[in-house]
Amino acid sequence: MTSSQGPDPAALNRVANAALTRVADGMTLGLGTGRAAEAFIERLGERVRRGMRVRGVATSKRSEELARRVQIDCVGLDEIDGIDVAFDGADEVTPDLALTKGLGGALLRERVVAYEAERFIILVTPEKLVPKLGMRTAIPIEIVPFAAGSAMRHLRALGGEPQVRKKPDGFPFVTDNMNWIVDTRFSPIDDPGKLHDEARKIPGVVDTGLFVRMADLVLVGGDEGVEEFK
Ligand code: A5P
Repeated sequence: MTSSQGPDPAALNRVANAALTRVADGMTLGLGTGRAAEAFIERLGERVRRGMRVRGVATSKRSEELARRVQIDCVGLDEIDGIDVAFDGADEVTPDLALTKGLGGALLRERVVAYEAERFIILVTPEKLVPKLGMRTAIPIEIVPFAAGSAMRHLRALGGEPQVRKKPDGFPFVTDNMNWIVDTRFSPIDDPGKLHDEARKIPGVVDTGLFVRMADLVLVGGDEGVEEFK
């Protein structure tokens, strides 16, 4: 069940525990961003404090702070040869496992970490399941602030309605990479891979929240248990 405050913490815990069964001693793990990823980091920290040895590559400053607080050894991409499994949340998931990511603002680092990982496992609650991307959320697109005006004009030409993400104080939200996010509404997206490629061609667009053919497994934590999609 999902409240107006967000996903049910018990369901997040269930999905985090299911994710933990995919972790083995000695692994290097990608640590995602957002509520589901944080539930996983908390549970992983408990294992680490009981003696499990893992290393984590965090996808945001916020996740790194949490991981360090729960005593997970955090490393940078320059210190490792690869990542065994990356665990992360998502904002939308389609039946063929295409994802929207980035409502937490970490989409670029999330893609970098997922790309380095042998397996990319997504943790969500059932309200994230959609027939097509763009039905539930606007698509977060990371842009260089200098190019905001022109990039938004070109995103409109692709059929989008972009809006610069703002903080409660009215100033633009700034990513860990010092960029901005434009949350861009599209009508339900038939071909997210094509839209991602077209958006990426716009100068100043750094990345989009459309993650196509990247997820290996999606774990969906519900009221009763955890369902797997692959
Ligand atoms: C962070 O940038 C996002 O990609 C998150 O993974 C996504 O927004 C899901 O977050 P929640 O688990 O908080 O819903």
